Amino acid sequence: MKKLLGIAVALALFAAMMVTAAFAEEQTVINMFYGTDPSGALDSLIAAFEEAYPQYKVNWIEAPANQDTSHDMLVTSLSAGESIYDVFSCNVIWPAEFSQAGYCLAIDRFIEEDDLDLSEYSQGYIDAYTFQGKMWGMPWYGNVGQLYYRSDVITTPPATWDELIDMCKEYVGQGGSTTGYVMQAAQYEGLVCNALEFIGSYGGTVVDGDGNITVNNDGVREALTMMKKIVDSGIMPANFNAFMENECNNMFASGEALFMRNWPGAYATVANPESSKVADNVGVTVLPSGSDGSAATLGGWGWMINRNSENPKAAWDFVKFVTGPEGQKINALVASQPPTYLPLYDDEEVLAANPHFANLRESLEAAVARPVSPIYTAISEIMQINVSKVLLGQMTVEEAVVAMEQQMNESLAEYNK
Ligand code: GLC
Repeated sequence: MKKLLGIAVALALFAAMMVTAAFAEEQTVINMFYGTDPSGALDSLIAAFEEAYPQYKVNWIEAPANQDTSHDMLVTSLSAGESIYDVFSCNVIWPAEFSQAGYCLAIDRFIEEDDLDLSEYSQGYIDAYTFQGKMWGMPWYGNVGQLYYRSDVITTPPATWDELIDMCKEYVGQGGSTTGYVMQAAQYEGLVCNALEFIGSYGGTVVDGDGNITVNNDGVREALTMMKKIVDSGIMPANFNAFMENECNNMFASGEALFMRNWPGAYATVANPESSKVADNVGVTVLPSGSDGSAATLGGWGWMINRNSENPKAAWDFVKFVTGPEGQKINALVASQPPTYLPLYDDEEVLAANPHFANLRESLEAAVARPVSPIYTAISEIMQINVSKVLLGQMTVEEAVVAMEQQMNESLAEYNK
């Protein structure tokens, strides 16, 4: 009897192994490159996707938090023709560069085959992923800079940058705060996004519609002067130039900072009692104005397929799911990321979870796009270096403006050769 039982168990085990092996063989692995996600939304998305498509297994290869580093990692791999990533998230500023360099697959045929209705997506974001008449990625979430403030301390948020400084001076110390303002001021793309908001709020420009360099103007001078004034007024932490998005979130969530500039997704961290000491005291509004009103930089992410992926159809199924109604809803609920799939702005669950989405659809439409230029990466790097030097007192505003103009024109001339 014991022997028979032993044989039966062995047979059952063998059968189970065979089923698992067969299933594993049938499953296609999708290698996906995406940054850190403290909200856990991507885990939920992967789980929902794998449930809807049991034939696939997603392998998440984590990208660095600094998006410039992930950009460079992608460029190194994709320019070498590697296929280690099937799909990757793509910043709204990369499509021109990536499609021109042949890194990503045009997705028009997939869109047609699956009859996707692109008119349900924000047109601005569809345009951002279109280059030379083809679609190179699907928009995922939109982004726009916002001002977060401690609603238990601040009753009326500041209307201007000067008011922000004054309020910090007056209220730091209240509600457990130790500092006034945090923003993305490390030397990376986030600093460019912040600088463009100051520049926009003083009516300045960096590049005109024809791609000419216009950075030498008074709006840029006034904007950099205000940024330096904020640093000099002592309302930011001493190590302000080490701050990217997560550092800002942490300082605000710990109750130390009164104000924070961040993207809508920060809400998932700072308004969540599990990750924030001030979850019930989070106010969100538009950024302060300069002499020309308030300006917010347009950000956002989409998904692209590696041109050399060995599983383009599987990659597409992932992209379609994540950027589709279900995927975007999960991302809006769990990560507070603003949908680019517009019907979700009428979804009651999405709105209830995200009070800071009020007027966001309009804000996304009014936001300032980063300079549209084939040499955007160079322009950004030039801004990162020179703006940092101004903030650290290593260069005057005038020197920085002149240097930026000269270096940007040199890059352009090099490109046009
Ligand atoms: C956000 C934006 C992105 C921007 C980045 C800067 O992720 O969506 O467009 O480049 O922040 O750090």
